[in-house]
Amino acid sequence: MPKVTGFIPAHEPIPLPAPVWLLQAFLFVTFLLHLVPMNLTVGGLLFLARGELSGRLSEPMRRWVVGYLPITTAYTITTGIAPLLFLQVVYGQLFFPAAILMAWAWFLVIVALIAGYYGIYAYAWASERLGRWRVWVIVGSTALFLYIAFAFNNAITLMSAPFRWWILWQERNPSTHFNLNLFEPTLFPRFAHFVLGAMAFFGLVTALYAATTVRRRDEAASREMFRTGVTWFVGATMLNYLVGLLFLFTHEPSVWRLFVGGNMAATILLWGSVALSLVGVVASLLSLRTVTPSPTLLVAFAALSVTIVGMARVRFWVRSQLLSLHAPEFRLSELPVQPQWGIVIFFVFLLLVGFFVVTWMVLQLQRAYALQSQQGS
Ligand code: HEM
Repeated sequence: MPKVTGFIPAHEPIPLPAPVWLLQAFLFVTFLLHLVPMNLTVGGLLFLARGELSGRLSEPMRRWVVGYLPITTAYTITTGIAPLLFLQVVYGQLFFPAAILMAWAWFLVIVALIAGYYGIYAYAWASERLGRWRVWVIVGSTALFLYIAFAFNNAITLMSAPFRWWILWQERNPSTHFNLNLFEPTLFPRFAHFVLGAMAFFGLVTALYAATTVRRRDEAASREMFRTGVTWFVGATMLNYLVGLLFLFTHEPSVWRLFVGGNMAATILLWGSVALSLVGVVASLLSLRTVTPSPTLLVAFAALSVTIVGMARVRFWVRSQLLSLHAPEFRLSELPVQPQWGIVIFFVFLLLVGFFVVTWMVLQLQRAYALQSQQGS
């Protein structure tokens, strides 16, 4: 790969408000928090779109997804803001040029967000009035949110490949100014990996919801939802083993070699996470015997959660490896730092308060659902 220097803009004069390792840690944690509602939103949308298009959408499943989708959509957006801020503070010199070079392809994220958001609310709260159009409304929202995920894949890969900025600038589409990082060999495997990851997470959360809340009121519905959930989890995860391999090996050798023995910690991190996802698959299949929140189901959920954390860490490792290869002049360690501990502590306090308030709200919601269903049954 060519090493092109001198393209990366200078760091802004304002020093970083906290040490780089702490800002990285905040970016990592807030990105993980973004993944949870994002996975449920994308997974749920794909389930509804497929169900509506095939005409095979069971009412209990539709009610479950429609019930949570407006909430997780809102949280996907709000939880995206913090990582965006940290990404800009730490990697602004790389992220901004990438987003600017994408031009309309990046601006379209906002349009897709608003239109997709309205579509979800219309489908959830006015589906009778939509009549047969509701199929196309939910398919449209799904396509728009998939586009947002794809746009982020483009921006994230382009920011790690400054050598491509000049090519993109030279070959930019003067008429549309709509630029995507289609030269990137890892782009589509990366997109597929995130989408399958979302389907898997949605599947296992559905199984957990069926085994806890639905079982109390409707044994038959909980059995059907449980089976559907485990099928989506296992099916998407098995496919992701193939896509994951493709994703790894479409990276350049000096990246993938790290994860196949080149660096022991990186190798253990990646294959340890893969092994844990396999534990999750086996445990979820074992839990099919009884539709209860059995220890095997909880093991499956714990294994998947640790897999997601491990994979997010691999993602950060790949980024720093790519930047050391393609942006050697971008050295985080040389960025000026002037810690503003007051602001840092206030941020941590707000993050914790926000986390507890959201957890409490979700628990209240679950209690309301259970109460509602008891009154309904
Ligand atoms: C609502 C639909 C959304 C979907 C489906 C979505 C999906 C994704 C995906 C798949 C990634 C990983 C990209 C990659 O590594 O290649 C990602 C990263 C990210 N998203 Fe979202 N996102 C959504 C909304 C948002 C919003 C509204 C914001 C900001 C306000 C946001 C902020 C971020 C940031 C900052 C990252 C990258 C973090 C990093 O590189 O460490 N997202 N998103």
